[in-house]
Amino acid sequence: MAVSIIAITSKYAPGDKSNLIAILQDAQKKVGYITPEAVDKISGHLNISRSQIYGVASFYSQFKFNPPGRNSIKICLGTACHVQGGDFLLNALNSEIGISPNETTEDEKFDLDRVACLGCCALAPVIMVNDAIFSNMSVVKMKDLLDLYE
Ligand code: FES
Repeated sequence: MAVSIIAITSKYAPGDKSNLIAILQDAQKKVGYITPEAVDKISGHLNISRSQIYGVASFYSQFKFNPPGRNSIKICLGTACHVQGGDFLLNALNSEIGISPNETTEDEKFDLDRVACLGCCALAPVIMVNDAIFSNMSVVKMKDLLDLYE
């Protein structure tokens, strides 16, 4: 694993912070998520703090910090979705599948992340499962939806 990250970072000039997103994308492509070890290596290579890396990466919904499950749930907690009850959906998700954002269920069926906007605010509240968007979600609709996934 460490060798892979070194191979990735070595493609980019040391200390050039403008390469952060590209390195994160490469690192995630390698194992499916950004590992703590990858963050450490990137931190050393670009001379940037780990918290800065997490701060930048967590702004983009494309980056994951937990091993992916078979199905990836993204819950939107942007302003429009928050106002329309996104937090209720998140609490229901926590109860239903037993994980919080940035976690993966023990059976690896689901992973969960929160995002700042999925780009369809008029349809709030919105969740995304894998590549599909589900709009105007309610707790009841969401529970039925989760039953469709294996
Ligand atoms: S705030 Fe949720 S889709 Fe934009």
